[in-house]
Amino acid sequence: MIKNISVIGAGTMGHGIAGAFAMYNYKVSIYDRNRKNHENVIEEIKIELEFMAEENYIEKDKIYPTLSNIKIFSNLEEAIKNADYVIEAIPEVLELKQELFNKLDKICPQHTIITSNTSSLSLSKLMEHISAERKKRIMICHWYNPAHLMPIIELSYFGNMPEEIFSDVYSLYLNIEKQPITVKKDISGMIANRMLHALAREVFYLIEIDAVSPEDIEKTLKYGPGFRGATTGILESADLGGLDIWCTVEDNLFKELNGSKKASDLLKQKVNNGKLGLKTDEGFFKYPKDTKEKIKKDFFRRLIIQLKASKNY
Ligand SMILES: NC(=O)c1ccc[n+]([C@@H]2O[C@H](COP(=O)([O-])OP(=O)(O)OC[C@H]3O[C@@H](n4cnc5c(N)ncnc54)[C@H](O)[C@@H]3O)[C@@H](O)[C@H]2O)c1
Repeated sequence: MIKNISVIGAGTMGHGIAGAFAMYNYKVSIYDRNRKNHENVIEEIKIELEFMAEENYIEKDKIYPTLSNIKIFSNLEEAIKNADYVIEAIPEVLELKQELFNKLDKICPQHTIITSNTSSLSLSKLMEHISAERKKRIMICHWYNPAHLMPIIELSYFGNMPEEIFSDVYSLYLNIEKQPITVKKDISGMIANRMLHALAREVFYLIEIDAVSPEDIEKTLKYGPGFRGATTGILESADLGGLDIWCTVEDNLFKELNGSKKASDLLKQKVNNGKLGLKTDEGFFKYPKDTKEKIKKDFFRRLIIQLKASKNY
């Protein structure tokens, strides 16, 4: 049974992953190579917990017990020595992750399950140099950002691990009230990002050809497919609408859709001009400095409202 968790890399994803496990009473050890992060990470988790309490998603008296479940280590060996389950959330660089996996393979206890939060790297590449025994205990567990609020977790089950180990990990995520899904093929991007970016390709294209304004395309998703999608998936929606209609629409429409095999020129242009979104004050929209905190809080608040609503059905 998984009790002790180690999180390696405490940036955007790692700190949220640590907080999410600690909230459900798992003992969490964190290791980050950058010591500067050690000071911020607990503070960041605390701020997120306080906000969840303000929004009545968790009890206020849960904050300190949660924080006391987390320990930060400046030494990797110390951070993993009692780990039943390790998840790495270091940068998306194959060589970096391979190097870490090789080290973890050597220093982790025999029973430890080693996992990666990679968004796009293949598991077979990640575990290329791992011992045969450990290959039975390695998988991708892909979280969505912000980790402490987004329910989905994509779990790889590509045939390298016995069913009982996979079920332990699956149960771990049920215990922290996430919604695990099983990905049965070693495909880049798992499932959620493939769906998201197929949609994003069309969104950027429609903006590029000036078919719709940025404001209206956001409205389209929020009050159209996204509105329904929060409660009803594509397959169910198709069944409800009638598969014959969906089939005709796809035959008529697919030849018109953008089929590009590279990122959109519009997106590249923004990146080249240093318009990276919230972090540089401008992306598709503008983010004056004094509004950024509120924008982030509003984003978290909307997710909390959805989380509460999703528990009622
Ligand atoms: N940011 C997202 O929206 C998102 C969503 C899902 C998955 N992911 C994946 O999660 C992983 C981490 O992404 P992030 O956005 O949190 O990155 P990040 O840059 O915010 O954080 C990475 C952290 O890892 C630390 N680090 C770097 N090398 C290390 C090492 N060898 N050992 C220990 N710590 C090390 C860094 O100091 C940093 O704090 C990536 O694989 C990414 O693809 C990111």
